[in-house]
Amino acid sequence: MSGSGTANDSVGSNGSESGRQRYAHIVGWGMAVPDRVVTNQELAQIVDTTDEWIRSRTGIEQRRVAVDPRETSATLGAKAARAALAVADLPAHRVDLVICATSSPEHIFPSTASLIQDALGALHAGAFDLSAACSGFVYAISLAASMIVCGQADNVLVVGAETLSRLVDWSDRNTCVLFGDGAGAVLMQSSAVPGGVLSTVLGSDGSGGDLLIIPAGGSRQPATLETVASGQHFVKMDGKAVFRFATRVMADATRQVLDKAGVSVDDVDLVIPHQANERIIRSSMKALNLPDEKVYINLQSYGNTSTASIPIALCEAIAQGRLRPDDNLVMVGFGAGLTWAASAIRWATPGARQAPAWRAGQRSATYSLARVRSRLLNYSRKVESSLVAEGDSISTSLAERIEGWRRYRNGR
Ligand code: ACO
Repeated sequence: MSGSGTANDSVGSNGSESGRQRYAHIVGWGMAVPDRVVTNQELAQIVDTTDEWIRSRTGIEQRRVAVDPRETSATLGAKAARAALAVADLPAHRVDLVICATSSPEHIFPSTASLIQDALGALHAGAFDLSAACSGFVYAISLAASMIVCGQADNVLVVGAETLSRLVDWSDRNTCVLFGDGAGAVLMQSSAVPGGVLSTVLGSDGSGGDLLIIPAGGSRQPATLETVASGQHFVKMDGKAVFRFATRVMADATRQVLDKAGVSVDDVDLVIPHQANERIIRSSMKALNLPDEKVYINLQSYGNTSTASIPIALCEAIAQGRLRPDDNLVMVGFGAGLTWAASAIRWATPGARQAPAWRAGQRSATYSLARVRSRLLNYSRKVESSLVAEGDSISTSLAERIEGWRRYRNGR
């Protein structure tokens, strides 16, 4: 949307003023994937499958897998988020909210978003996870845009982060060939420049909850020796039923979101669909009469990375010059729940900003400091607990001093 605002109004300048209409724009983006590539041929040595079967039924050729246990949904998410902040040239302390959409959170709690917030040193940000399976990233975009438009937040980090390889049964050929690990993130920012998120559609049909499910490990079926022995902590899926649902809902949600935005299918420049299966994508886009060149597909390289698939595809589409200012973009996804979500966006960001070179060094120093700060805070809490447990007046006064220091470090 270059040229449609004043200099102060340019997208990314965060030029929102009270009383003015606010718009939510994507001004930063980043992705992170594990180094380890697992090809279809490798999978054929583990389960009864072939490269030909996987390619022809899904389009997938390889996926990334986090083999290092230190690589987690939060570390991948934080890496992608740092890249998004670098593109937006925004320091982490200016982020108001971190939303992490994930189907493979590190824990039931704390949220993966809080771990990412801590790793970034985003001291003034709230943080929470959003659970809507593979539709989660588009759900989070919708939420972030609403928070920005109504004035609750100026800068929101939306992250999709997954290590689904740890929740997949590597002896089940029906599922293990489909998924991959990775993370993608966008920074959404308020602006007075018209455009950004134009409309969103969110949907759910819980009657299909059993079609794609991790049965155990939650409160319904807590972990027991039996649930572990029978593999109930792994992804279970009725592939055919999910396929039918996905094909229908992707086309319907795209139509609805475009209607809401007042944009015709012909005026769409690019669709970034959830990267689950090339056949699902092609048949739903065919139903919309959208030509192949308007649909971005990169699932051949990453498989289905659930909430991360759309932001990873967005990053690659931008890097390949597939998005220009004023383009109409649709993101559309589906997933367990069953859920679906779509978002129509008028792209307005000219490209990555040219931050001065020294800024990269400054950013990396800030992240090292965030790590030190986190450890010190964690340690101070432990010291404080042991002092308060003692209960004498000297200990209590020391504990109060530590609390004062912690508030100071937290900037509150
Ligand atoms: N290699 C070889 N054969 C296989 C494999 C495999 N990896 N997996 C299944 N088969 C077999 C089946 O056992 C079946 O054999 P059978 O006829 O003897 O029973 C045969 O292949 C055909 O299976 P179909 O189910 O007919 O195969 P289909 O063409 O439907 O493709 C697939 C299966 C790829 C799973 C497809 O149904 C699909 O993509 N569904 C949607 C899944 C999806 O997108 N899930 C993610 C949702 S997002 C989220 O929230 C995580």
